[in-house]
Parts: sequence; structure tokens; C-alpha cells
Amino acid sequence: MFKVAITGTGVFTPKDAITNDELVVAFNAYADKQNAKNADAIAAGDMDPVPHSSADFIVAASGIEQRYVLNKSGILDPDRMSPSLAPREDDAPSIMAEIGVDACQKALDEGGIDAADVDLVICAASNHERAYPAIAVEIQQLLGAGGFAFDMNVACSSATFGIQTAADMIKSGSIRRALVVNPEICSAHLEWRDRDCHFIFGDVATATLLERDEGLTKPHFKVKSTRCATQFSNNIRNNNGFLRRAHDQMGDQRDMQFMQNGRKVFKEVLPLVSRHIAEHMADEGVQADDLNRLWLHQANKTMNDYIGKKVLGREPAEGEQPNILQDYANTSSAGSIIAFSQNSKDLQAGDTGIICSFGAGYSVGSVIVTRS
Ligand code: COA
Repeated sequence: MFKVAITGTGVFTPKDAITNDELVVAFNAYADKQNAKNADAIAAGDMDPVPHSSADFIVAASGIEQRYVLNKSGILDPDRMSPSLAPREDDAPSIMAEIGVDACQKALDEGGIDAADVDLVICAASNHERAYPAIAVEIQQLLGAGGFAFDMNVACSSATFGIQTAADMIKSGSIRRALVVNPEICSAHLEWRDRDCHFIFGDVATATLLERDEGLTKPHFKVKSTRCATQFSNNIRNNNGFLRRAHDQMGDQRDMQFMQNGRKVFKEVLPLVSRHIAEHMADEGVQADDLNRLWLHQANKTMNDYIGKKVLGREPAEGEQPNILQDYANTSSAGSIIAFSQNSKDLQAGDTGIICSFGAGYSVGSVIVTRS
């Protein structure tokens, strides 16, 4: 069995950001328009008015202060309330491929590796803009990577599940280098007209370069161990899919977008994740005192505070459990990789950390790494 290392990461961040205040102004304008349009039905008690959103609620409930998006104007247009992204010809790069390639190139540059020396590209994301051909194969071609490529989807846990998949192939010797890329266009499957969730997501792409750990002289993270787990739940769900035409359900329906029972997710996922990390650490002989950093999935600040405290057995010190959700919001599978990419370079040789993502499925994935 070969050893595995992470030698590079990359983050593509869209140019446009939406603050909570901007988001709430647009949402409330939409709500007022809807309520004016349906004034008679609301007055007759046949329909509930659309309630206003509040920036104070958003930051208190989630810790999110802004999000990056691929298209701002469409989302903030009260008559549209969704991103406006021009369709592309089949022979033009798809949007996921384009932003994924940007993140991959940054990861390759950090690792000092040519794309041609990559044997595997996994495009692991919570939604893919088409069924086939795989976005990963398109990214492989645009990069000029070798070997083979495939897509996978484990929602918010896609990155860590992708890392385990690639790491296992490197360990076995079937490949030498892999890119795990997470282009997340969450803005296109978020229901911006629903105040319960309109603030949750943002867009981004991340990439992780993994290599056989043999004669590496550049800075890297040794992959000590990976672990994935799933447990079925309907509490985070998106019903959009190819059977909709067969079901005669092609209209604008709420369940074609992200749906969640946020309170239940909160209550059920916290113990699942805390237990998962504790068991993974125990099985690898890693004590809480050995941990220098936790790069958690970026969905909710209170959730991360709770998990950090549970794992470490105390309040995390400043910088020990970095959050990026205040700037990026929830970027699904990419969140823990952004946190890792932006908050790991300062670690010293021998320092240990855990990347952990969790979400729909339910799913939870953890990667224990040591700085070298
Ligand atoms: N503005 C103002 N009020 C709002 C609001 C908004 N945008 N959205 C909801 N509210 C209201 C609710 O209607 C509710 O009012 P009520 O008490 O009169 O019924 C109240 O605020 C509390 O709402 P609730 O949904 O219970 O809030 P919460 O504290 O659970 O926070 C989440 C909501 C989504 C931030 C939180 O549940 C969460 O983060 N859950 C986990 C999410 C997660 O990890 N998902 C994984 C996604 S991949």
C-alpha cells in the first residue's frame, strides 16, 4: 500500500457578493409585490402573506454575513429571484467545468504539478448541471489531464467522499495523482423566494490535489486516515430529476429546489458528526490534545461551535476551528475545503488536523491530516 498526501488546494471565488442587507431588501420587495398581487385572497384568509426576512435573524441564526454568487442581478431582481446564467452551446465549456478548471489550476500550481501528470479527476458536487457526459471528463479535457474522470454526488459531503475515493486508489497503486474538484453553483438550486432558506447558500469551486506520498520535498499534508458514513434522511432533499417529465411535473415547483427541515437537521446531524469524529480519532489513536485544527463543513456557526467544543472537550481557541461561512455562506461540499485551503499553511511539521463535512443523505466524511 502506498501513502497519500494532499499537495495543493485551489479556490475559485465569484466576483459578485451579496450582503445580508442587499438580500433582505430584494426579498422584502418580492414579498410586498406578492402580497399586493394576492391582497384579496390574503384579506379573505385564503392565503398567508409572504413574511418579511431580516438581516438580524440571518446573522443570529446562521453566522452568515454575505455570499458570493455567479449572478447577482437575477437573484436581487424581485420579479425574478433566481440567478440569470446564459445557456451555453454544447461545444462551449459548461459553467461547472469553467469554474472547476480555475480551482484545479490553482491546486496544480500550488503542488507544482502539470495537468498531464494527473491520472484521475473526480468532480464531486451536490448538483451537476447535466446528467452526462460527466462534468469531470470535460474538466479532464480542458485541463489536459490524463487517465480517467467521473462525477459523484454525496451532497455537502462530496469533497471528503471524493478525497477518500481518490486516496484509496492512490493507496492501491492504480493511480498516482488525482484532482478532486467541487464546483458548487448552489445559487441555482436554492429557492430565493423562501425566507426560511434564502440566505443559506453561495457559489464557489474548490479543488484538492492528492499524490502518492513518495519522495515529496514540497510542503504537503499526509493523509493519515479517511472515513465516510451515511444514514438515510429526507430532511434535506431536492426532488428535481429526469423522471419529472414522466411524472408530468415540469412546472415551477418548490421541491425542484433545495428543501430542508433545518431544525431537525440541526438536532440530528450534530450528534452524528460529533460521534463520527470522536470514533475516527479514537480508532487512529488521535487525542483531542493532538489536534491543532478542525476544518468543518460550513453550514451554521452554532453547529460548528458545538462540534468544536464536543471534539476538543473545551471551547476552541482562536483560529483552531476557522469558519469561512460568514463570507461565503454554505457552499455545500466546498466549505470545509475553503476553510482548509485558507487556514492551513501556518501549521508546523507534525501538526494534525481534521477536515470534516456533513449534510444531506445524511452523510459525514472526515480526513485526518498531518503537516509535513
Ligand atoms: N427572517 C426572519 N425570520 C425568519 C427567517 C428570516 N429569513 N427565516 C425563518 N424565520 C423565522 C421562522 O419563521 C421562525 O418563526 P416562528 O418561530 O414564528 O415559527 C423563526 O424565525 C425561527 O425559525 P427556525 O427555522 O426555527 O430558525 P433556526 O434557528 O432553526 O435557524 C437555520 C434556521 C436554517 C439557520 C438552522 O435551522 C440551521 O442552520 N439548520 C441546519 C442547516 C444545515 O446544516 N443544513 C444543511 C444544509 S446542506
